[in-house]
Amino acid sequence: MDSLIALVNRIQRACTVLGDHAGDAALPTLWEALPSVAVVGGQSSGKSSVLESIVGRDFLPRGSGIVTRRPLVLQLQKTEQGLQDYAEFLHLPKKRFTDFSTVRKEIEDETNRLTGKSKQISPVPIHLSIHSPNVVNLTLIDLPGLTKVAVEGQPESIVQDIENMIHSYVDKPNCLILAITPANQDIATSDAIKVSRQVDPAGERTFGVLTKLDLMDKGTNARDVLEGRSYRLRNPWVGIVNRSQADINKNVNMIAARRHEREFFATSPDYSHLACQMGSEYLARILSKHLESVIRTRIPGIASLINKNIDELEAELACFGRPVAVDARAQLYTILELCRDFERVFKEHLDGGRPGGDR
Ligand code: GDP
Ligand code: NA
Ligand code: MG
Repeated sequence: MDSLIALVNRIQRACTVLGDHAGDAALPTLWEALPSVAVVGGQSSGKSSVLESIVGRDFLPRGSGIVTRRPLVLQLQKTEQGLQDYAEFLHLPKKRFTDFSTVRKEIEDETNRLTGKSKQISPVPIHLSIHSPNVVNLTLIDLPGLTKVAVEGQPESIVQDIENMIHSYVDKPNCLILAITPANQDIATSDAIKVSRQVDPAGERTFGVLTKLDLMDKGTNARDVLEGRSYRLRNPWVGIVNRSQADINKNVNMIAARRHEREFFATSPDYSHLACQMGSEYLARILSKHLESVIRTRIPGIASLINKNIDELEAELACFGRPVAVDARAQLYTILELCRDFERVFKEHLDGGRPGGDR
């Protein structure tokens, strides 16, 4: 199954590159059929921190106020044990980043390139892929947080602009929603749950994540939420303890942060009975598993889309009347090959292995 998600990732990336060259191709439909995970929540609820924990690396700009100002489409690709981690941006092909602090700098620079050093936002996504033996295959999208008012330096429309940007991702039925709510805020006021309820009222493609469990008022706990009594979702809620701003300032590293999170749950009188279903490592595992099952159930649909795309791609390549840019042409071939790989791999998947299991 790993190879299927990896292939989906490669097709998504190839389609994105092509999107820049040939806007009218049939490929956007294919892109939309492929599943992804969008991270949704209020400003400073901990979205970027949760993403970093899932990846297990420090590479995202985080902090108070509006930090994430363009969507970040993050593709995680699991590589073979022993290989070195590296990151690659779509806008900087062939440059491999092995120092992850320079990845953060590049995200900041690339954000500013479109928005200036401001508090403004842009819906144009930044595409980043991270290759590592220690990640699960996933495509995650980090988004600006929902806000209530425009602050100094922002246009009045920003509140609505951010909401529209988020909807352009989560409205797609194939988008899983990672709904982030801070535990030190009442669940009834959660921006993430508000969006989720609008587009996924049955709670079928939403994963509820409760951050900042370490910051709750003494004498209170979040068991009603974590045990599913406050807001029911089909998937269980996951509690998270990310690094605090003080930890960030002190450069507390990811390994220490994860250890601290594990200890928090293992030793907490309120949550120790739930410890095995809490924390960012657990969240990464269930997300990947869920994505696999989504791909599995969508295989017949994706298969027919891919077949249609293969036909259209071939027609497009065969069409001499219409000049196709050299880059776009190479990209079309790449996608064609990826589609065929995909078709082959999932055929094997359907034919072999599990008698009667798949379909
Ligand atoms: P985003 O705006 O939703 O992307 O949130 P960030 O990930 O940038 O985090 C906003 C601030 O909240 C940062 O200062 C984080 O250190 C802090 N933060 C996030 N999650 C937690 C948490 O679980 N516990 C604590 N103590 N602080 C957190
Ligand atoms: Na923030
Ligand atoms: Mg952020």
